[in-house]
Order: sequence, then structure tokens, then C-alpha cells
Amino acid sequence: MLSKLRNIRYGALLLLSAVLLPAAFFLSGCERPVGDNPEDQVKYVIGMSQANLGEPWRVVMNREIMEEAAKHEEIKVIFTDAAQDSQKQVKDVEKLLGYGIDLLMISPNEAEPLTPIVEKAYEGIPVIVIDRDIQSEEYTMFIGANNELIGRQAGQFIAELLGDRGGNVVEIQGLPGSIPAQDRSKGFGEVIAGYKNIEIVDTVVADWLRDKAEDEVHKRIRNYSNVDVIYAHNDPMALGAYRAASKFGNNNIKFVGIDGLLGEEGGIQLVKEGILKATFTYPTGGKEAVQYAIKLLKGEKGLPKRITLESNTITE
Ligand code: FRU
Repeated sequence: MLSKLRNIRYGALLLLSAVLLPAAFFLSGCERPVGDNPEDQVKYVIGMSQANLGEPWRVVMNREIMEEAAKHEEIKVIFTDAAQDSQKQVKDVEKLLGYGIDLLMISPNEAEPLTPIVEKAYEGIPVIVIDRDIQSEEYTMFIGANNELIGRQAGQFIAELLGDRGGNVVEIQGLPGSIPAQDRSKGFGEVIAGYKNIEIVDTVVADWLRDKAEDEVHKRIRNYSNVDVIYAHNDPMALGAYRAASKFGNNNIKFVGIDGLLGEEGGIQLVKEGILKATFTYPTGGKEAVQYAIKLLKGEKGLPKRITLESNTITE
């Protein structure tokens, strides 16, 4: 195991992003000389392949993983950051596998391009898929909230917000190749289809990104004078849309998002400030992933294939 750790140390140096380097080093014990007690205690190495670290929600996920992992001396975690590039994420996983990791945790950028590499990893080691599913069930466990249900709840909330008069809605979608974007759209669309007086008048693809949502809404805002609500698949895109509308002087639109993060620009703060009418919490699953990883590594049997995390509605 120790020689494996030595190999991992040099490979990891190349791999870790500058942002995560200090934290990952701290966690991994890489700064300590070999033979020092803490490294001797490391029994298992976990690779964590993150889709990107440009979005606050993912920074929170990695932080939760680090905090939970720090409680367990027997594991060390190596992080990679695919920077929203599915091809890079495939390479990241290949590198992690090359280091001889004992378990893979992955939050895939998109479903289709990541499916084969996840299946390959699963041939050799346990794999935990977090938040964004792939196109097969060739993994040990999936941990995440039910996005279709969240979409339905958002639809129901907006229907109630509009009341008997109904109205016009714009939907801002996340990355089309990611399952949460597909599910949040499906659940929402099904509920809205049940209301004859509510129409989805435009759908905008903004790939989960705040600034892209702002740009896209900016381009279209002249056509949005009859829009009552903008439903965005996450809070950053809802905020981007809000900014574009306010700059144009359109203060009639109401905004609904998903994620409900704490902190500045987090969904909870946005609801408090009245920028969002509602957000739906979307737990990252980082803490649970580490907890289940340890159980799997210790050979615990009979664990569920899917862990569904709870989401809550946040309104004023
Ligand atoms: C972060 C994020 C979240 C969203 C989740 C869906 O990358 O866009 O805002 O809830 O991914 O996978």
C-alpha cells in the first residue's frame, strides 16, 4: 500500500488543481514524510472526480468530502477537477485508476460521455456516482436527490404563485447532457401541462452557468414583457436572469431556482432578499458519499444501490 501511495503522490502533484492543492495535500498527508504515523494509518485511497469547481455548489460538495474524510485517518482522497469538460473528466478518471485507487467517487459532467469510463472503473473497484447519473447502472451506488420530483415541486409552486389567472413562464435549463437538467425539465413540464392557463413561452439553455443565463436573457429580454415567472434549473442561473431583467428595468418577473445554498449569493440569501420567490434545496451528497465509501471499503454488504437525499422548499 505504501509504495502505491508513493506513486500516487507524484501523479497527484500533476493532477490536482491549484485551488485544491493545499487542501488535498493536507487531507492526503502528502506533505508528511513517508513512515510518519498518519500515512501509515492510510489504508484506502479514494479518487474523487469532480465535474467542475467553477460553481459554488461543487465547491461545497468537495468541502463536505474533505471535512468528512478528515474524520477518518484510514482514508485519503485525491481530487480532480474536469472544468466542465467531459473529455477531460474521462482522462481524470483514467489517471485516478492508473494510481491504483481503491474506490472511485464521481460527479459526472454529462451522462453519455462518462458512462463507459464509469463502467470500466466498476469492473475493478467500487464506484459511487454522486448527483448526476450516467446512462447505465454499472456502478456500486448512486447518491443524490430526486430531480424529477424537484421539477414537479417547482411546477406546483409556480402554478400556485400564478393562481387562477395563470401566466407565461420561461424555463432556463442546465447542461442538456446532464441528467438533473433533463429530470428537472421533465417533472416541471408534466405539472405545467396540467394547467391550461400556464404556458412555457421560451426555454433557454444556459448550461448551469450564472453569466451565461444573464447573457441569454439579456438577448431575449425585449420579448419578455409578458413573462410572469422565470424557472431556472439552479439558483445561479436564476440570479443571472434576474440581473438581466433588472438591468432592462423589467421588475415584473418573478424568479424560482434550485440549490438553496447558504452564504453570499446562495439561494437562501436570494430568497431572503426577495430576488427569488422560492428555491429547492439540493444536497450535494459529499458527506454521505464518504460515509458510504468507508462502509464499502470495509466490505459491508447489503447496502442500497440508490441513496435518495431529501430536498426542501425554501420560501419567504
Ligand atoms: C453545479 C450544479 C448545481 C446543480 C447541479 C446539478 O454544477 O449546476 O447548481 O444543482 O449541478 O447537477
